[in-house]
Order: sequence, then structure tokens, then C-alpha cells
Amino acid sequence: ISLKAYNTFGIDVKAKFFTEIRSKEDVLEAITFAKNAELPILILGGGSNVLFTSDLEALVLKINIEGIGQIKQVNNKVILAAGAGVIWHDFVLYSLEHNLAGIENLSLIPGTVGAAPMQNIGAYGVEIKAVFHSLEAIEISTGISKTFFPKDVNFGYRESVFKKDLKGKYIIYKVNFNLSTSHEPNISYGDIQKVLEEMNHASPTAKNISEAVISIRQSKLPDPKFIGNAGSFFKNPIITTEIYNELKHTYPALPGYPNGPSHIKIPAAFLIENTGWKGKKIGKVGVHDKQPLVLVNHGGGKGKDILELSQKIQLDVQNKFGIFLEREVNLINDKSLIHL
Ligand code: EPU
Repeated sequence: ISLKAYNTFGIDVKAKFFTEIRSKEDVLEAITFAKNAELPILILGGGSNVLFTSDLEALVLKINIEGIGQIKQVNNKVILAAGAGVIWHDFVLYSLEHNLAGIENLSLIPGTVGAAPMQNIGAYGVEIKAVFHSLEAIEISTGISKTFFPKDVNFGYRESVFKKDLKGKYIIYKVNFNLSTSHEPNISYGDIQKVLEEMNHASPTAKNISEAVISIRQSKLPDPKFIGNAGSFFKNPIITTEIYNELKHTYPALPGYPNGPSHIKIPAAFLIENTGWKGKKIGKVGVHDKQPLVLVNHGGGKGKDILELSQKIQLDVQNKFGIFLEREVNLINDKSLIHL
């Protein structure tokens, strides 16, 4: 089966077997099937953070576990649970409809609830880490369920234990969030303040912030429905203050945001734009013209085309700034499958 509809880059690769997972029991059944057939597996959420570079001799488990529900409420604190297959933005909208605040800054991020903690999704001054209560996951080798609390997940910038030590070891099927009926707005991000002012919201509600974020994202980021992409292709590099100051000397416009006592996070978009890649096209793939951190498939591009483009950008940025741009998107080929 073609995976074209299951990845936001719209890359047309094939998987040998494919199954939709609607429950915890389906997970166990699929694992047993794959074990008996001696097939490796691939776990797929919204397909919004993957780049396929080859056909897959594998069983793909597309996680479609639905359901949103309140677990408990104590005063203004509410724990809200969602199945791993719930579309992230639908979850955000549900929380806002129920007057629950905490994830409004994370509006319109593509992908599913189950994939969100894996890479600690973040935008406009908030990371999922800030509202994460716990998650439930099945250990692939044993079929046993385990609850993970923040201390077990080890969140970092676009990082968690599920991308490191526990990579390929668990399937997340449910995530629980700490939300609140009383709103403490986070409008630290400059763009949000600007849009809220334009909208004339002096004391913004969670819904107002969500609307501001949606309007910013729609103005900068390509909609994967119309143009294939996986959001930020690279991470924003974190460099030492010393290196930052040296660079700032040569490039006075270089922005920087403190990251701990001795490091600065700088926008990869600035580095890519200043190596001349913004808006460039190579064949059917290219660099987005409004946000060069986003690589795009203009239609019919191959995973390898995107990968080669990304490597050219990495090389130019390395040569000009001495900085290595680490990939944020997960590369998927036969080597990244989970063997049972
Ligand atoms: N910039 C440029 N040229 C451009 C665009 C941006 O130089 O054409 C520079 C500007 O200095 C700008 C800065 O980059 O101030 C930051 O740009 P932006 O606010 O668009 O954010 P970003 O740092 O490029 C990160 C996340 C996004 C997230 C936004 C908002 C990463 C890798 N990316 O991008 O996440 O939406 O902040 O918080 O951390 C994603 O992960 O897929 C994603 C879109």
C-alpha cells in the first residue's frame, strides 16, 4: 500500500503491510502478527514529522486510538486524557470549548496526541512538557502497559526518552494533560503580542491566544494539505555564549535567545536565509519562501530529493557559520524499522 496519504510531505513510498490501530488490544494483535510473520514494524501517528526515503518491507501500525475525557478535577486543575490517535489540534479545540487552558499556544501544530510527547512539541513560548501529566504505553517486547510520569520521560528541546534510550521500545496509546479552568496567558513570544494588539485584546482569553497563534502559523507556515512539508526540518541550534558573541560580531542581526546560563538558541531560519536558500527550488522540492526552516515538496518529489536538499543546506550553513544543523524530522527507511 502507498503511504502517500499518511505523511504530510506527500512522499509516495510503499509498505508491505498496513493496519489501523483503534485500541490497545489492536496493538497487541498487530505485534503478534508481525512476530509470526517475522516482519519489522513502523509506528505512524499523523506522519507530520517523518521523511520516507525508501519502500518499507514492514507492517505499518497507523495509530488511530480515539477518545477524549476528563480524568479528574480538583479546584481549577483538570486532568484531561486523550487517545494517541486524536488529532492534536482537535484536542486543543476540545480543551478550549470546555474552557480549559494550557495548550492554546500549541494550536494548529500538525500531528497526533501520541506523537506530541515523543518530541516535546513546542511553539510560541510553550512546550508540552509544561502541561504533561503522564502517558500510557505498551512495551513492544513484552506487551505490558506502563505509565510514564514526567521524571520518566526526560523532556528536552524537541527531545524525550522515546527518541533516545527507549527509541522503538514502546507504543504510546494514551496521554494525560494538566489543564486549568483559570487562564494564565503566556504571551512572551513577540509575534503573539503583536497580533493580540492588532486584534485589540488587552486581556486575552485562551481562545484569543489560540486565534492569534492560528493566524501567525497560517501566515508563515505552508498547509500540508496544499503543499507537502513536515514543519521545521531542522532544530534551532544551541551554541555557547562565546561562539554567539563571535558570530554576532560578523552578523550583528543574528537573533539569540538565552538557553540556560551559558548557551544561546539561535534561529536556524536566519542561518538558512543568510546562505541564500530561502525560497529556492531544486526540481520538485524546495525551501519555503516565508519560513526557510521548512522544506517543501512541490508535488512528486522523492524523499531522497528532500534529503539531498537538506544536506546541501547543512553543508552551506556549516561552511559559512561553522554550525551543524541537526535534523528535527525523523528519517524513515528500512534501517529505522523496529525488529521484534
Ligand atoms: N527568521 C529568519 N528568516 C525567516 C524566518 C525567520 O531569519 O524567513 C528568523 C527571525 O529572526 C525570526 C526567527 O527566525 O525572529 C524565529 O522565527 P519563527 O518565530 O518563525 O520561529 P522558528 O524559531 O523559526 C520555532 C519552531 C517552530 C515554532 C516556532 C514558534 C523549531 C525547530 N521550530 O521556529 O516549530 O512554530 O518556533 O514558536 O524549534 C516545528 O517544530 O515544526 C515548528 C514549526
